[in-house]
Amino acid sequence: MKTQARPSTSTEDYLERIDELIEQKGYARAVDIAEVLDISQPSVTAMVQKLAQAGYLNYEKYRGLTLTDKGRAVAGVIRQRHQTLQRFFTLLDLPAETQERDIEGIEHCLSPATMSALARLADFFEANPPVVRQLSAFSKKVSARRAD
Ligand code: FE2
Repeated sequence: MKTQARPSTSTEDYLERIDELIEQKGYARAVDIAEVLDISQPSVTAMVQKLAQAGYLNYEKYRGLTLTDKGRAVAGVIRQRHQTLQRFFTLLDLPAETQERDIEGIEHCLSPATMSALARLADFFEANPPVVRQLSAFSKKVSARRAD
């Protein structure tokens, strides 16, 4: 078996989505996971079994699934990363759709040091609204100049 410091990207994605589904609907079934991840149900079932074997979730056929403490911890970290990146990208005036796509792409890859630097930067901007307005005005000016 591969040894790795962190769960794989797809493990993180699954646990993130499952945690969200449980929060929103109270349960997560293979069919729901297949829909949100846009993956076939048999692939989801196979992955869910793997995640259960690795101790991330409890899986009982026909009864839905629940995250173990280990699974919840991974989902918590990745959701925290997602929220930090969302705060940061919102400050940069990026449209929601672009944010979602890009955040899902990078939330697994950034080091803890980079994540906390971005969180600090978001804290700083949120604490200084005039700076955010200045940045926004500057960006608009630069884009207008480029469009000329
Ligand atoms: Fe995410």
